[in-house]
Amino acid sequence: MATNVKVIAGDPSQGRTKSSPFEHPYALIPTPSLPTDGSKPHGALLNAVEMFLVHNILIRAINSILYHAPLVKLHDDIKDFLHFCEVFVDFTNLHHDSEEEHIFPEWARACGQPDIMNENVAEHTTFHAGLQELRNYAKQTRDDTTRHSSEEVIRIIDSFAPALTTHLRNEIPTVLQMQQYPNGDEQRKIFAKGVEKGAAQADNTTQIPFALGCHDAGFEGGKHRFPSLPWFVIMGVVWWYGGTHKATWRFCLAICIVGQRRRSFEIVVSEHTRR
Ligand SMILES: [Fe+2]
Repeated sequence: MATNVKVIAGDPSQGRTKSSPFEHPYALIPTPSLPTDGSKPHGALLNAVEMFLVHNILIRAINSILYHAPLVKLHDDIKDFLHFCEVFVDFTNLHHDSEEEHIFPEWARACGQPDIMNENVAEHTTFHAGLQELRNYAKQTRDDTTRHSSEEVIRIIDSFAPALTTHLRNEIPTVLQMQQYPNGDEQRKIFAKGVEKGAAQADNTTQIPFALGCHDAGFEGGKHRFPSLPWFVIMGVVWWYGGTHKATWRFCLAICIVGQRRRSFEIVVSEHTRR
């Protein structure tokens, strides 16, 4: 069976809007366009685009977890699925820690607005407990996969995903608002440095393949190139580091290299069970 994953509109504050397995229960965030007249984009605009793309990685992972939770039945499938849940939590925490430690304070300093990111940082606390609950569930259930309950996974996700996805949207206007300051290049450098520091803290065999696997290079017709690395470097990273937990990445909804979505999630699971 071949089908496409379709993006549907929805207000994340209203919770998920699932109507078919191949639609995104939580809507992806559309990105702003860059200038087409050849003018140099402001650093804050470039930062916002990258931030959107990273936020969509998180939303795709949430949607994948919701979709796969009731589909995984066999021990190996459940184990790999729970590992995917764990990596999702670790990547989300790493993203927010990097913002709080390396990026937001520097933006506030550079723009002379100490409180500029305060509301966004405060929102980090609104979903932290839910993320931790998911991580605990995944870790405990991996030891005894017979205890896996899709209802429990969906309950945990729905307890924090509305707050998380609302936060992921709310952060962008703050970043875009920084276009009013003339130090775009400095803002851009701060962001790049923060991302670099975050990447240095990431686990190469888990968080990096997770991010690459949940980014869809074909999103919005592939209008943004992300990550901004040569394709052969990305392929090398996927090949070198992705192999350690290869089975976990079956649960990624997209793959950044080819920009093609999975044909069907059932196939992802059943292909594995035939190994
Ligand atoms: Fe963010």
